Amino acid sequence: MRLQGKVAIVTGAGRGIGRAIAHGYGREGAAVVVNYSRSRESAENAAGAIRDAGGRAIAVQADVAHPGGHNALIEAAVKEFGGLDILVNNAGIEIHEPVLDANPETWERIIDVNLKGAYFLSVRAAAVMMGAGGGKIINISSVHDLEPLWNRAIYSISKGGLLMMVKSLALELAEYHICVNAISPGAILTDMNRSHLAQGDRRARLLEQIPLKRIGEAGDIVGAAVFLASSESDYVTGTTIYVDGGLLLHK
Ligand code: BGC
Repeated sequence: MRLQGKVAIVTGAGRGIGRAIAHGYGREGAAVVVNYSRSRESAENAAGAIRDAGGRAIAVQADVAHPGGHNALIEAAVKEFGGLDILVNNAGIEIHEPVLDANPETWERIIDVNLKGAYFLSVRAAAVMMGAGGGKIINISSVHDLEPLWNRAIYSISKGGLLMMVKSLALELAEYHICVNAISPGAILTDMNRSHLAQGDRRARLLEQIPLKRIGEAGDIVGAAVFLASSESDYVTGTTIYVDGGLLLHK
């Protein structure tokens, strides 16, 4: 087991990619704080499944858009499991809004979760990791940290910002042996995009752009997430792994 004895927080882990990562970490021996904001039942369920498989996990409600949520998550990791080694900033929101209809509330909602939340939770986590001799901070970005997504300008801007956040944190936290990296998924089928992709020929048009000729599943992200959390990646920091079936090759 590659994460034996480690403690991880995974934000937005009730569903989708976060849930798959939490399961993967549990399987590799980590104790996992399964964070959720609103999907209580599925988060409890995800934590229960990790425990049923012989691992350690608790579900913790917290909104990463608020500092109170950060305290709750760090406290849960330290009190329940005795420390914090791995943080996965996975919680994210995507709202469809044409540029010409832009409104400030959409900006605040998306940036507060996708970027500001990830930044300040990372800073809080780093303070704990420093005391323990190091750690791993992994950010779930998107191929749209490089390429804009139609009707989702603010989402794309938040992911572009995340890319620079990763590099900035990596630079300043390296001396404390804290590695900061990102995983940028391509088209992964989750609750976030299921109904959008079900409309008309959207799914078929998307498939045409993916050289590996399939839409990804949440499980496709787990290998990179385990690698970046494990000691196998101790010399990797400030970088991004694109897990997109080749989608960016067509952009
Ligand atoms: C978005 C999806 C989109 C995918 C590929 C992701 O970041 O969340 O809605 O299908 O990128 O464009």
